[in-house]
Amino acid sequence: MRKIVYLNGDFLPEEQAMVPVMDRGFIFGDGVYEVIPAYGGRLFRLEEHLHRLDNSLRSVRIKNPLNRRQWREMLESLIEKNEGVHHSLYLQITRGVAPREHAFPPDCEPTVFASASPLKPMPVDVLENGIKAISLEDIRWRFCHIKAIALLPNILLRQQAIDRDAQEAILVRDGEVTEGSASNVFMVKHGVVKTPIKSSYLLPGITRDLVLEIAHANDIPAEECSISPEDLTEADEIWISSSTKEILPVTELDDHDVGDGKPGPIWARMISLYQEHKAKLASGDAR
Ligand code: PDD
Repeated sequence: MRKIVYLNGDFLPEEQAMVPVMDRGFIFGDGVYEVIPAYGGRLFRLEEHLHRLDNSLRSVRIKNPLNRRQWREMLESLIEKNEGVHHSLYLQITRGVAPREHAFPPDCEPTVFASASPLKPMPVDVLENGIKAISLEDIRWRFCHIKAIALLPNILLRQQAIDRDAQEAILVRDGEVTEGSASNVFMVKHGVVKTPIKSSYLLPGITRDLVLEIAHANDIPAEECSISPEDLTEADEIWISSSTKEILPVTELDDHDVGDGKPGPIWARMISLYQEHKAKLASGDAR
């Protein structure tokens, strides 16, 4: 089956979806995006993702081209039109097509694009052994709470991790851990789950919030606090979270074992509660 995408009101085969070269997304990286998982056709935490999208759009002064109902209907149609059971939905809005001029163009219609890719389960090896991460200086701009499509720093940071045989870069700004190149960061010390406080230096992750929600609902001690690189080196467990990767244990940081070098017991409990939550979504008992 061909991959069908959405572009400016139409559903069409991916290879037929064309954006003019003068689109400001292409020329300036002038746009924002979201990644939303859908399990068994049900959109996961849609309200939260659309709320964050509203915030991103407002921050860059692009009017939201669709209302809540229109977003839901479009994304549900996209799922129906594409193969697969579980999907990762990507949606992007750019300021639109205009002559290359830094200032906002007058009367520019935003370009709206969305696609659905199959969401593959995490390889068993990753869940059994965890991943490697390295810590790097956070070289990004100061508005990391905006889910901007301009991801060059994130890409360079992730590639540095890959070049050093790691899967994620954990970023540090002014002596504090912010997040991963495409994930939020958690650590566990003496049974307490910790994650950095939300600020303009990190993306307010939807998975991050759900992890905290699950922790509170299940009496797992959890707090939002400042985390230093030294705290990480002494952590019993480190995790990263994102919509596509869910919650992954980091078992090696900067070539040193995290804890005993194996995924920890609190992660094991959290991921099983997270999977229970997803299962409830299928029966309509969760968002
Ligand atoms: N990225 N921080 C950054 C910089 C991210 O890019 C992401 C996710 C997250 C986690 O947010 P959430 O739990 O809402 O997915 C945190 C997506 C998946 C991506 O760019 O593909």
